[in-house]
Amino acid sequence: MRAEVETAAPLIPPRPTINKLRAVAAECKACHLWKLGTQTVFGEGRQTSTIMFVGEQPGNSEDLEGRPFVGPAGGLLDRALDEAGIDRSRVYVTNVVKHFKWEPRGKRRIHKKPNGAEITACRPWLEAEIRVVKPRAIICLGATAAQALIGPKFKVSLQRGRFVESPLAEFVTATVHPSSILRAPTDETRRMETQEFIDDLRKIAKALAI
Ligand code: URA
Repeated sequence: MRAEVETAAPLIPPRPTINKLRAVAAECKACHLWKLGTQTVFGEGRQTSTIMFVGEQPGNSEDLEGRPFVGPAGGLLDRALDEAGIDRSRVYVTNVVKHFKWEPRGKRRIHKKPNGAEITACRPWLEAEIRVVKPRAIICLGATAAQALIGPKFKVSLQRGRFVESPLAEFVTATVHPSSILRAPTDETRRMETQEFIDDLRKIAKALAI
């Protein structure tokens, strides 16, 4: 019987490494999003990274460049990591969904949230990344990643920065997505939200004693 949802599971190579996974994921057609995105945007960072950040899906800049968190949200994440004293070389960044989902608005490509079937289809890539990198800490950025990795009961707005018991890693938590900080209505709220984000990252650094 044909499965209702196609997933990337059959594509995961035996004895995977990040480089092998990235190479195979480049050809992934497990869901329809490969037709929409320019290319697969796989996770990036050392295979020995201590911390894994998981976002939702690549944005416009990431889609064009083929690398995660290289656009405005990535810039904010880099600055916050720096402020929190977290060495970027110990960090692996990736996304729940590896293709950019968008809809046209005039000449612009507007981000569209991935649905459950797309998340399920892509999930084997994220699970393989976690198995290979074996990070000590996994930080979900925003609700999509939190729901996928922690569960639907975790409310980022209420529980951000709180560690949860998880088989995935020693420390697992979620905080806001840097894109949401960039959408803050005023400079003052953006400044405050950035500071709260840095405080969440500091808490993680402290837990890891790095
Ligand atoms: N937003 C994400 O969730 N991931 C990226 O890689 C960029 C923006």
